[in-house]
Amino acid sequence: ERLWLVVPAAGRGRRMRAAVPKQYLSLAGRTVLACTLARLHAAFPAARLCLCLDPDDAHFDPAEVPFADWRRVPGGSERADSVANALAAIAGEAQEGDPILVHDVARPCVRVDDLRRLVATVAADPVGGLLAVPVADTMKRDDGAGRVSGTEPRDGLWHALTPQGFAFGLLRRALHDAAERGVSVTDEASAVEALGLSPCLVAGRRDNLKITHPEDLALAEAILAAQGMHDHH
Ligand code: C5P
Repeated sequence: ERLWLVVPAAGRGRRMRAAVPKQYLSLAGRTVLACTLARLHAAFPAARLCLCLDPDDAHFDPAEVPFADWRRVPGGSERADSVANALAAIAGEAQEGDPILVHDVARPCVRVDDLRRLVATVAADPVGGLLAVPVADTMKRDDGAGRVSGTEPRDGLWHALTPQGFAFGLLRRALHDAAERGVSVTDEASAVEALGLSPCLVAGRRDNLKITHPEDLALAEAILAAQGMHDHH
């Protein structure tokens, strides 16, 4: 069994309102993409990487990929399509039971110890799982007109983060089924859930933020600096 990393990086990141897709914005002296790949490489230097990129991507620089064994695959119209393309690209080589770790390019602050803990948990779990953190804020549902229609009990609610890890065969079946049935899935776990399975929640850290809005870049910068002060990853 060998670990495969799938990094969907084919999004446009429209919510950033930037001229350059968010994975190419500058963070800690390099691109977001380079920061994210460096974290993954620090945790799993021998893993194989599948990087999903927009075929028209004009910003990608292969020199930013630290892995010896990696390939580029075309992104799809949704995140799940990008991941499905990656699985299709490795289908000739991957074994059914090979662990696949999917990690958003927009999450450069994930800690190396969390990455390793997730992989260890997923390897020993019959379903697989994901990094997640319990919801801290009170959750409101809106009425569609800017007012509160109700408060959701936050007990037992988690934010789903990445990475998410599943066996190759299971994940391919889950994404294929979801696409076939027209179920929209925003993460790998929800595709696996749609098969009737319960992925394992692995407690991660709140600082594993997804760069989504313009203010997130400064936050990520501060998080990386703070992490560097306490440990190196
Ligand atoms: O836009 P959002 O942050 O939700 O995207 C999550 C991840 O999925 C990002 O890493 C983005 O690059 C990726 N993505 C993709 N293909 C798409 C849409 C998003 O690889 N069609």
